[in-house]
Amino acid sequence: MTRTAPAELPAVAPTPGRPFGVYIHVPFCATRCGYCDFNTYTPAELGGADPGEWLVALRAELSLAARRLGSAPQVDTVFVGGGTPSLLGGTGLAAVLDAVRTHFPLAPNAEVTTEANPESTSPLLFEQLREAGYTRISLGMQSAAPHVLAALDRAHSPGRALAAAREARAAGFEHVNLDLIYGTPGESDDDLMRSVDTVVEAGVDHVSAYALVVEDGTAMARRVRRGELTPPDDDVLARRYELLDARLTAAGFDWYEVSNWSRPGGECLHNIGYWNGGQWWGAGPGAHGFIGAVRWWNVKHPNTYAQMLADGRLPVSDCEQLDAETVHIEDVMLRVRLRDGLPPSLLSASERHRADTVVADGLLTRMADRLVLTDRGRLLADAVVRDLLD
Ligand SMILES: C[S@@+](CC[C@H](N)C(=O)[O-])C[C@H]1O[C@@H](n2cnc3c(N)ncnc32)[C@H](O)[C@@H]1O
Ligand code: SF4
Repeated sequence: MTRTAPAELPAVAPTPGRPFGVYIHVPFCATRCGYCDFNTYTPAELGGADPGEWLVALRAELSLAARRLGSAPQVDTVFVGGGTPSLLGGTGLAAVLDAVRTHFPLAPNAEVTTEANPESTSPLLFEQLREAGYTRISLGMQSAAPHVLAALDRAHSPGRALAAAREARAAGFEHVNLDLIYGTPGESDDDLMRSVDTVVEAGVDHVSAYALVVEDGTAMARRVRRGELTPPDDDVLARRYELLDARLTAAGFDWYEVSNWSRPGGECLHNIGYWNGGQWWGAGPGAHGFIGAVRWWNVKHPNTYAQMLADGRLPVSDCEQLDAETVHIEDVMLRVRLRDGLPPSLLSASERHRADTVVADGLLTRMADRLVLTDRGRLLADAVVRDLLD
């Protein structure tokens, strides 16, 4: 892997035939949840920068991006994430999508997702988002248990996430996701099962479920260090994953990536792009982009981001040109996590040989000439990657 000088994006040209997405990062939250280390800022942390300035800067970045790409490629998917995009309200999120459309042609059936926090949504917001052209809503529910939401410092009640999902569907959103976190200190198996039942009751077509990661530097990590909170061990996490997978499968969801389940047709195409050879421009503070074999990431602070764009510069912090070996390693790491699995032709002769051992160990299985994780393999996906790549 060769690293270029900081803040200089080399010429990037999308490879034809690979899906193209736009990711927009909204770096604002009303308060910070104790477990979260995402690039997001509360009003107190921002010292003056506001969403209005961010939107001006975002428009400038998208304009520079389209110019940099020459003829802007057709966009298959847009994903507005955060932070808390729903803090921008219907008008703000409509302006974000307009900014994308001004500089990039959207495919006729483009998937356009926004993340939203249950407490900053309403029936009116969902109607405005439909009107603006959004096609998919992703809500951070995390849990249906009040004490789990409290341990995570979430601002919403369990009932609000369920109501928000229903309001989104009533506004005409066919595609609604609920995010769950499992393994929060104090969560029981029953708590998780109630959360999954609530997701099923909400009638959504997509669920993402992530094991809680205690990130260094967060308030939760400090509480764990002081002994105030005890995260569950790996065996408990594995059992929780099996429980939630069984309950979701019984309710008509299928896993399509290790942490993602959908009803038929409900898969998130934008995220599939990340895992399966897609390319995207990442706009906004701290956003990452990947086009051709170039990956880059923007400066993190909204003030620096706005200042660089005001100076007419792309707000790139650093970038790297991936060599063929790194592209291959990342391809294997990401694609093995998909239910579609790995085509053996992607693997080298020695990797195919090692794959035989992983199959014999019961972690991979062959399905229609693909290597697909078994149920046990899904619990040990990182080890499978290590075994394959040696
Ligand atoms: C960073 S949030 C942004 C969207 C929105 N603000 C929210 O909180 O739902 C996206 C998702 O990442 C997941 N997430 C964030 N931090 C995590 C952590 N430390 N461990 C596991 N999942 C995490 C949560 O499920 C969350 O819904
Ligand atoms: S609302 Fe979402 S992005 Fe904001 S601090 Fe909480 S988890 Fe992080």
